[in-house]
Amino acid sequence: MLSNRLFYFLLVLSTAATLGMGGDIFAQGDITQETDYRKVKSPDSYGSILIERNTRADKNLRAVVFPHWAHRPKYTCNVCHPDLGFKMKAGETDIKQADLEAGKYCGKCHNGTESFALSECNRCHSYKLDVKENKKIGDALKDLPRDFFGNKIDWGAAMKEGKVKPQASLDGKKKLEVLDTDIVIPAVKYSPHPPDVLFPHKAHTMQLECSNCHPTIFNQKKAGNPDMDMMKIISGQYCGTCHSKVSFPLEDCFRCHSQPLPKKEEPKKDEKKN
Ligand code: HEC
Ligand code: HEC
Ligand code: HEC
Ligand code: HEC
Ligand code: HEC
Ligand code: HEC
Repeated sequence: MLSNRLFYFLLVLSTAATLGMGGDIFAQGDITQETDYRKVKSPDSYGSILIERNTRADKNLRAVVFPHWAHRPKYTCNVCHPDLGFKMKAGETDIKQADLEAGKYCGKCHNGTESFALSECNRCHSYKLDVKENKKIGDALKDLPRDFFGNKIDWGAAMKEGKVKPQASLDGKKKLEVLDTDIVIPAVKYSPHPPDVLFPHKAHTMQLECSNCHPTIFNQKKAGNPDMDMMKIISGQYCGTCHSKVSFPLEDCFRCHSQPLPKKEEPKKDEKKN
């Protein structure tokens, strides 16, 4: 068991090392100047969405940066997805300033009562701007349980320990339907294979509605998603819709691949050598 874990850990490390080397191979001139893809995202920018759909064309207007980490302690996901009409994909929502002024989207809360007012343009239109009034994640969330990845906050533990109590609607009256069933998803498409995946409904339904996932992302049936595999997940489908975007990233393999390995794996070819 332990040695298997170690094996996959080394696999991940070597993959990371290869990717790092790839960066050098592909580096030409100064194309990496704008974005250094080799850099690990900072806890501040993990899950922060650059919204530039309607600001891109205007040279005098900065694009908007939306930090999930600043909102997650206060609201569950469904408050915005879909209750306030935000799509769960960057750039998909068509947001006009006039909508905000009419109390829609960000303007539902950024009205000077629930949070800062729309007159503070730079706090939202902040791409490449260091806004003094905006908090830093390290100060704002320093009392929450730590994690190794993403925001470096263990959001699951923070919920379980009651350190954050996000509300499911703006008036705080809505209750989400929490479903406490675990589903084991076998990860056996290749051999040798990693431990099977345990999908916990509870951790998800504490923050999401059934309709966030069923039937758009997953058929509501055990083993009902035969096309799912790790490559599709990495490319942003299935679990990858949220993980590596806002929820803990896919690098954290064993958080999902958490089931014990079967006793006997396939026999080793070079067994005699040992
Ligand atoms: C609470 C956050 C927030 C604040 C504060 C804010 N905006 Fe925006 N604004 C947005 C978002 C989100 C968009 C959509 C961005 C996109 O799609 O590129 C947007 C888009 C815009 C657009 C382009 C779309 C359109 O309607 O033409 C303009 C212009 C604009 N904002 C001006 C302003 C000005 C001026 C202020 C200050 C008086 C301001 N905004 C304050 C969030 C904000
Ligand atoms: C206060 C509002 C708000 C809350 C709460 C919220 N989101 Fe979002 N989310 C947004 C906005 C705004 C966007 C950007 C939409 C766009 O660009 O069209 C977004 C985008 C996303 C995306 C797309 C990211 C990408 O890179 O394409 C995912 C995934 C997502 N949210 C998941 C979640 C999850 C999971 C939760 C709960 C843990 C959550 N959101 C809570 C407002 C919110
Ligand atoms: C459901 C209500 C709600 C919606 C919708 C919402 N916000 Fe907020 N936002 C808040 C609250 C409340 C805070 C203050 C959080 C705190 O201080 O702990 C906040 C804080 C922020 C901050 C400051 C974070 C910091 O570092 O201090 C920014 C920037 C921001 N929101 C941008 C946006 C943008 C852009 C949108 C729309 C795309 C948006 N918000 C939509 C409620 C909301
Ligand atoms: C984060 C996404 C997500 C959310 C939210 C979610 N589910 Fe699921 N659900 C899944 C996945 C993944 C499976 C397993 C599919 C598979 O095995 O292919 C599943 C399977 C199921 C199954 C089939 C289980 C079985 O034993 O046959 C039922 C029933 C179900 N979900 C009901 C619900 C209900 C009710 C809610 C809301 C209270 C909900 N789900 C919320 C992801 C989700
Ligand atoms: C719609 C968004 C969404 C999808 C899709 C999704 N998750 Fe999650 N998942 C979350 C959120 C939100 C959390 C809370 C922790 C966090 O954000 O890091 C979470 C937490 C978890 C946890 C940790 C629970 C804990 O107690 O710490 C596991 C394990 C997990 N997800 C596995 C999966 C697997 C496996 C899939 C695909 C079958 C999946 N998730 C699909 C949003 C999602
Ligand atoms: C958010 C949850 C999640 C995380 C994190 C995750 N996986 Fe997976 N993985 C899955 C699911 C679900 C499957 C099962 C897909 C299927 O076959 O139906 C899977 C399947 C696999 C498979 C079996 C082959 C295949 O494509 O189905 C391999 C190998 C794998 N994962 C490797 C990894 C590695 C290595 C990591 C860490 C870098 C990782 N996974 C992280 C959810 C996850």
